[in-house]
Amino acid sequence: MTTLPVPLGNRSYQVHVGTFDAEQACRLLTDALGAPTGVALLTDGRLLERSARAQTLVALLQQRLRNAAVLALPAGEACKTMSAVEASCQWMAEQGLDRGAAVVGIGGGATSDHAGFAAAIYLRGIPFATYSTTLLGMVDAAVGGKTGADLPAGKNLVGAFHQPRVVLADLGCFETLPRREIAAGLAEVVKAGLIATPAILDRIERHLVDGTLYEPAALDELVTMSIRMKIDVVTSDEREAGRRAILNFGHTLGHAIESAAGYELLHGEAVSLGMIAALALGEIRGHTPRQLRPRVRAALEHLGLPVDVAPWLRPDVLARMDVDKKRRSDRVKFVFVRQPGDCLLEDVRLDDLKRDVVAALV
Ligand SMILES: NC(=O)c1ccc[n+]([C@@H]2O[C@H](COP(=O)([O-])OP(=O)(O)OC[C@H]3O[C@@H](n4cnc5c(N)ncnc54)[C@H](O)[C@@H]3O)[C@@H](O)[C@H]2O)c1
Ligand SMILES: [Zn+2]
Repeated sequence: MTTLPVPLGNRSYQVHVGTFDAEQACRLLTDALGAPTGVALLTDGRLLERSARAQTLVALLQQRLRNAAVLALPAGEACKTMSAVEASCQWMAEQGLDRGAAVVGIGGGATSDHAGFAAAIYLRGIPFATYSTTLLGMVDAAVGGKTGADLPAGKNLVGAFHQPRVVLADLGCFETLPRREIAAGLAEVVKAGLIATPAILDRIERHLVDGTLYEPAALDELVTMSIRMKIDVVTSDEREAGRRAILNFGHTLGHAIESAAGYELLHGEAVSLGMIAALALGEIRGHTPRQLRPRVRAALEHLGLPVDVAPWLRPDVLARMDVDKKRRSDRVKFVFVRQPGDCLLEDVRLDDLKRDVVAALV
């Protein structure tokens, strides 16, 4: 087990990365939560059906924690609606949870966003902990305190900053996680390599060549390095006043493609396309060396992620960039990569981005 501290003053917490047995996971969660008066175990419904590991943990938490009750959430992104969050809060009230209670989110990024948001608004805020069960959830969603839900108008348009009391990244959960979900999470790991930690990119390439990428030791190392990077960024800029925006690399077009694709693409798959586009845009502006895009494209392709952006550059997809929540009037802070580990934030006009991306890639 590796324990990574997240130093945020009185909101500090720890992220534990490893393969945990139920006893160990239960102890780490209960130690961090103290003695809550009641606990809502908000759990991804599909995970609860499929994963003996999750079932055992939930049963143990119910034994060990006072007034602990489990609610199976709609699986995946379906739990990130206002009505699903309302249903969780209503259920918590029916369970009699008071200000001394706590929430534990058990699932991927969608579950931790939902659980953290419910905890942020229930009784104006109660503590929560995250037990993360997907690679993307671990390297991206679980750490940093952003919680929220989607609106019909767009993804993640409502939310709150609410830091967890502890995060567990249980690599044992990969036993049941489909390979496609793992690969999609690895897109965010590639992103971590590009924006901050070049060694991550080197390692992925090496593991892809020798066929060891999906071995537990390799995933453990990459997940740990990526979480370390995310902690470094979010502790230097908790509320995204500046540097935290680098995490948005590949996400401006990625989000537009993701929303246009509906259920066809996973978040990480859309980000894979968005990163290719962002590298091409960097080339046009003279920020990104031309050798980088083929290198990144080869790695993403090897991971089985989509890299062919052209078919997505339709007017309806490009128009979706206008609802990007990072947009300010007609401009966005766009992230360009100069070299792996070195990036640049630049204020650019959305119309220029749309024009250039079509010119570069169609
Ligand atoms: N808060 C943040 O900073 C932040 C950052 C990045 C992403 N996110 C959010 O995270 C979400 C994406 O997270 P995700 O990729 O983890 O998706 P997810 O939570 O939707 O999980 C993906 C799928 O895997 C299933 N699943 C989860 N764990 C499993 C396991 N161990 N075995 C088998 N199946 C399992 C789920 O039921 C779901 O169908 C998005 O909503 C995104 O907005 C948030
Ligand atoms: Zn992302």
